[in-house]
Amino acid sequence: MAKINVNLGLCSYDIIIGENVISSLSNRLEKLHLSKYQPVVVTNEVIYKLYGNFLKKQFKSHSQLSFIKVPDSEKAKSWQVLFNVLKTIVSFDKGKNIFLVALGGGVVGDLTGFVAAIYKRGIPYIQLPTTLLAQVDSGIGGKVAVDLSWGKNLIGAFYQPKIVISEIGFLNTLPTREIRNGFSEIIKCGIIDGELFSLLEANRSSILDVSSPKMLKIIKKCAQLKAAIVEKDEFDSKDIRIALNLGHTIGHAMESAFKYAMITHGEGIALGLIAESIISNKIGILSRKNLDRIISLIVDLKCLPIVRKTIKIADIVSYLPYDKKNKFGQSRLVVPSKIGGVKIVTGLDEKIIESSIKDALEYL
Ligand code: NAD
Ligand code: GLY
Repeated sequence: MAKINVNLGLCSYDIIIGENVISSLSNRLEKLHLSKYQPVVVTNEVIYKLYGNFLKKQFKSHSQLSFIKVPDSEKAKSWQVLFNVLKTIVSFDKGKNIFLVALGGGVVGDLTGFVAAIYKRGIPYIQLPTTLLAQVDSGIGGKVAVDLSWGKNLIGAFYQPKIVISEIGFLNTLPTREIRNGFSEIIKCGIIDGELFSLLEANRSSILDVSSPKMLKIIKKCAQLKAAIVEKDEFDSKDIRIALNLGHTIGHAMESAFKYAMITHGEGIALGLIAESIISNKIGILSRKNLDRIISLIVDLKCLPIVRKTIKIADIVSYLPYDKKNKFGQSRLVVPSKIGGVKIVTGLDEKIIESSIKDALEYL
């Protein structure tokens, strides 16, 4: 078991990671003074079928437990679903004190956190991440949001959970594609923290096995990295947290170009990591040797999109102006500077971006 504290003053919270850590839920809620609040679990049908009954048993001191099921997939991070969830919550609430429980991957976590942030100007919520991606990244740090058709996460907030409980046992039912999806964010963390990257490289043939003891070490390392970055720059305003957006400028544009279907978030990020590393090499920042190391790890772990559908580069590029990192009309991109470091580049020539995306698409 690992316990990591995210030190954010009054908004500090713990991340608990391990096998069977979910059994401590009730005690932890009591310590957080949430025993008298009524839990409303937001999840989807797939996760409810797998863990709904199991979860009911974990809420030992709560007599009433309500569930809200949202659609499976990125479609749940929409204006319409957000509104439907809010309407259902109003009908449950009726003057009782409620708190929200995000039981799911990044989609459920981002949506639930955003509902918690805006309902009654903020109610408590907890994260119970059930995907690898959510355990290493999205469940931590309080970035919560829904999408607009122009781009991802365009309506959102910074709103921290009361606790994150990452039950490793949940990962046993994750399809392999979703494990690879999580590894895109893990590789991103590895590029920021070189030691993690070397660990992944050295274990590339066995690293996808969620039952391996190395999995706890990897999830813990990513959570520690993210917690440390969030502590320094909670509101992404100091050009520190921006590092966690590595691969995301082109990755998000890819997801938008595919209309959030056919490719997963992690697959978009894998392609984004390759394209942004190629850009970095083309403008003389990243060495050829380190570029090859990044591409080889992503290719070997099969993190790239599995669809072979041809996509127009112009389509991907058309979403780039909506990226939240841009400032005063100027593009801003995070690129790897080495294994263990990133750099912010501004005002890049569009031709370099386009040719790098084209080169990256060759790996599909
Ligand atoms: P997801 O939430 O769509 O989950 C992936 C799939 O796995 C879904 O079909 C889900 O039903 C299924 N699933 C979940 N848990 C399962 C389990 N234990 N067993 C079997 N199936 C299970 O996708 P994701 O990759 O977890 O999250 C992607 C989202 O996270 C994107 O919207 C992305 O923008 C967001 N994100 C947010 C942050 C942040 O900081 N807030 C960071 C990274 C990504
Ligand atoms: N996933 C990017 C961030 O949390 O800042």
